[in-house]
Amino acid sequence: MFEDVGVFERVGEATDVVRKEMYDFEDKGGRRIALRPEGTASVVRAWIQHRATLPFKAWYVAPSFRYERPQAGRYRQHHQLGVEALGSDDPDLDVEVIGLAWGLYRDVGLTRVRLLLNSLGDATCRPGYLEALRSYLLAHRGELCDEHKARIEENPLRVLDCKRESCVRVTADAPRMIDYLCDACAAHFTRVREGLGELGIAFELEPRLVRGLDYYTRTTFEFQAPALESAQNGIGGGGRYDGLAEQLGGPATSGIGFGIGIERMLLACDAEGVFPAPAGAVDVFVVDVTGSAALRLVDELRQAGLRTDRAFDGRSMKAQFKLADRSGARFAVVVGPDELERGIAKVQSLTSNDKAEEEVKLSEVVDHVKGRLALR
Ligand code: HAM
Repeated sequence: MFEDVGVFERVGEATDVVRKEMYDFEDKGGRRIALRPEGTASVVRAWIQHRATLPFKAWYVAPSFRYERPQAGRYRQHHQLGVEALGSDDPDLDVEVIGLAWGLYRDVGLTRVRLLLNSLGDATCRPGYLEALRSYLLAHRGELCDEHKARIEENPLRVLDCKRESCVRVTADAPRMIDYLCDACAAHFTRVREGLGELGIAFELEPRLVRGLDYYTRTTFEFQAPALESAQNGIGGGGRYDGLAEQLGGPATSGIGFGIGIERMLLACDAEGVFPAPAGAVDVFVVDVTGSAALRLVDELRQAGLRTDRAFDGRSMKAQFKLADRSGARFAVVVGPDELERGIAKVQSLTSNDKAEEEVKLSEVVDHVKGRLALR
């Protein structure tokens, strides 16, 4: 959960995730510590430290902390299911890693996942592209949003990621990295696309996909769930980071991986109706206006294994029915002074349209409700 803050500062000084959103503090020993905002840099740091045999493949489920503005699907603590593979720059490994995430979404039951794909080039071709992008953005500086007017020099790629209308309009015609790829990066990207095609994985090229962290090279990708609000519809993403190990002080070692946002993936599942509606927590609700019958009745129903609830504080019949509805109970067992005198209760369905009451002897309420629950 903790990491030396320097690990993230080395890899992402120009990104919001590190600059603005990272929780960091000094511990009692004077060490500067970060709550991890993500898992990749830590896995690579651990590999440099312990030098497991290559290729090295790791997976993790871990909390990530980012000081973001909390809203639906954007939290200050979220969880990622991540995969990292170090030690090969073979494009077939890119396909394998993307295919793994793709299969996971499919196995969970999601059917409407979009895969966006881009290449960010490498140290050979990216500088030339950044220069072209920088000149283009400087020529249109006045049309950009205030934040990005000031950040062109520092990191022009970030402007491509801006969702504000003014920036989106300018960057629509901006130079595209895929037009600047060197031969090696272009060949790599071609093989990745071919491989995805061979596995029947549908993707869309998105030349403006830059991702929120700076360590990416070559293949980058993002999975989106169209069923979610567009600002939070990224349910996972990743890419290649062939320069990261070196940046962290280790030997040059290529790598690729992804992180799936578990909360967002579950939100997408809800939006697609992947999981059946949860069964109510309560089977039966005892509505008692005698003030005394509920105690025993609830006890008997619970002893029989039925999930039973009731109201307290002598509430009105109407108020008790409201609580019964809210509890999600399937049946109400109703006892008033009249019923009590006759030794009966009225049993009524709360979930079907047929709200007809059935009179049942108090001694038979348990069996009656059990029978009706079993029928459904
Ligand atoms: P990321 O795109 O920053 O990439 O995060 C991965 C996923 O975590 C996102 O697609 C999203 O589903 C989820 N996520 C991110 N921030 C939040 C948040 N504030 N609230 C809820 N969910 C969130 C990474 O972190 C890279 N380490 C992925 C990677 C692995 N690249 C290579 N290997």
